[in-house]
Amino acid sequence: MAPGITRLEVEAPRVARRSRPGQFVIVRVDEQGERVPLTVAERDPKKGTIGLVFQAVGLSTRQMADMAVGDSLADVLGPLGQPTEIRRHGRVVCVAGGLGIAFMFPEITSFAEAGNEIVTILGARSQDLLFYVDDIRQLSSEVHIATDDGSLGHHGLVTDVLRELLDRGEHYDYCIATGPIPMMKATVALTKPHNIPTLVSLDPIMVDGTGMCGACRVTVGGEVKFACVDGPDFDGHQVDFEELAKRKRAFAEEEEICRLQAEADRLEQQRSDGP
Ligand code: FES
Repeated sequence: MAPGITRLEVEAPRVARRSRPGQFVIVRVDEQGERVPLTVAERDPKKGTIGLVFQAVGLSTRQMADMAVGDSLADVLGPLGQPTEIRRHGRVVCVAGGLGIAFMFPEITSFAEAGNEIVTILGARSQDLLFYVDDIRQLSSEVHIATDDGSLGHHGLVTDVLRELLDRGEHYDYCIATGPIPMMKATVALTKPHNIPTLVSLDPIMVDGTGMCGACRVTVGGEVKFACVDGPDFDGHQVDFEELAKRKRAFAEEEEICRLQAEADRLEQQRSDGP
């Protein structure tokens, strides 16, 4: 879809029939693969397929990005999590950054179908990392774009754009924010003084995805919740983003070691295979 960002169309008829916006699946590329939680960004019940969008950052996602048409994943577990409550709120501002756009696309589709006016703010590091933009334009009354390098739209953050719209006196009845933790944290800080209810979608570290391991715990309104069964949607004004950020970083070192080991194994294999 964009450099480093891949879309897989997966034949999974039962998931395609049953999943609702906001829900996700956990996939494993093979028996040894990590369990990777991914939003169901698209579903086509007639074809029996779902669309998954991910960034190749770790070992398993790199393997997934290298898959060829016709290959199989070891397993696709889902749909998991609570579907988003889709209601008619009025004017809904949707703020999505980076891969958060994959989560936002089905949300925008459903909120627009429910009769809401959609104002969208999309952000990425640069223009070529944006995706679903044309589809989202069809569903939104306004689309604002922000890029870190200024290659398209506002040169800066999606939250700069939101701040400017709010300062200008624009009124929103509801906000949905998805993307990196600092982006969601900054969005809720802007919507809170305006009393705009704000939904965020969290993707903490997940293991089983069924509420048994406790890996995905997040603190919301002072209570411990499990993102996989209680979420992934939560009231953004209640989420402890500090704790969430700390937990997300917890395995960064192990992940890097694993990636370097895989790279070393690959080079070793190349050497022993000869020219
Ligand atoms: S992923 Fe294990 S409890 Fe949520």
